[in-house]
Amino acid sequence: MRVVLLGVPGSGKGTHGRRLATALRVPLVATGDILRQAISEGTPLGRSAEADVKSGRLVPDATMLGLVGERLAAGDAARGFVLDGFPRTVPQAEGLGRILGERRLDRVVNLVVAAEVVVNRLKDRWLCGICGAIYNVASARPRTQGVCDRCGGMLKQRPDDRADTVRDRLVVYERETAPLVAYYERAGLLHNVDASATAERVYAAIAEAVGVAA
Ligand code: AP5
Ligand code: MG
Repeated sequence: MRVVLLGVPGSGKGTHGRRLATALRVPLVATGDILRQAISEGTPLGRSAEADVKSGRLVPDATMLGLVGERLAAGDAARGFVLDGFPRTVPQAEGLGRILGERRLDRVVNLVVAAEVVVNRLKDRWLCGICGAIYNVASARPRTQGVCDRCGGMLKQRPDDRADTVRDRLVVYERETAPLVAYYERAGLLHNVDASATAERVYAAIAEAVGVAA
């Protein structure tokens, strides 16, 4: 199964993408996670992307297409994948089509939620610095404050979750990524899900759209 999760920053792509990928037994390919990892390791990719990621601008399409092309060529993606955060522009969507060739996408799930909801969610988001697990001090608290339930790693906030940067990311989303909704609707792949409900209900709707047990 080859699935793309679309949606504004904070709509829940990472939260649900992990769970969905586990249920489908395919890798989660989250381009934001890959870039943050490269930044923390100081690789050439990380150094070239750092300023864009921290300020909420998009990394150039050519860089992203190279990165995703390489990732999807790996053996574990042969049975399918869940893409989170890619494609993010029409040229990226066209490039993904070329990368996939005969392999087609099965579903594009669009997580629909209002901007004011996500600004609040992102202010409360904490991430594990080791395994990347996602928490929220309002809706998905860790058992011990500041510590990851899964691996015991320290939780931290993302520099691009400051309210002013979140607003910039929402503007970028509207300009660059929102056109993909119509793009994938025309392709007959789009499935809208109300992402303002509780996380459990949102996941159940995604699972139904993709045809996997919730
Ligand atoms: P990326 O990491 O992809 O960030 P994003 O798209 O802005 O999305 P987020 O990760 O902020 O949100 P999410 O939808 O994953 O929400 P989450 O599940 O965490 O990209 C970061 C940057 O990398 C970009 O700005 C760009 O610079 C670069 N980049 C990445 N891909 C690129 C590309 N293809 N091209 C160019 N540049 C690229 O949930 C958010 C919070 O809400 C959590 O705290 C969670 O617990 C909580 N939550 C989730 N669902 C619910 C719910 N239903 N109810 C209550 N709380 C909820
Ligand atoms: Mg994410």
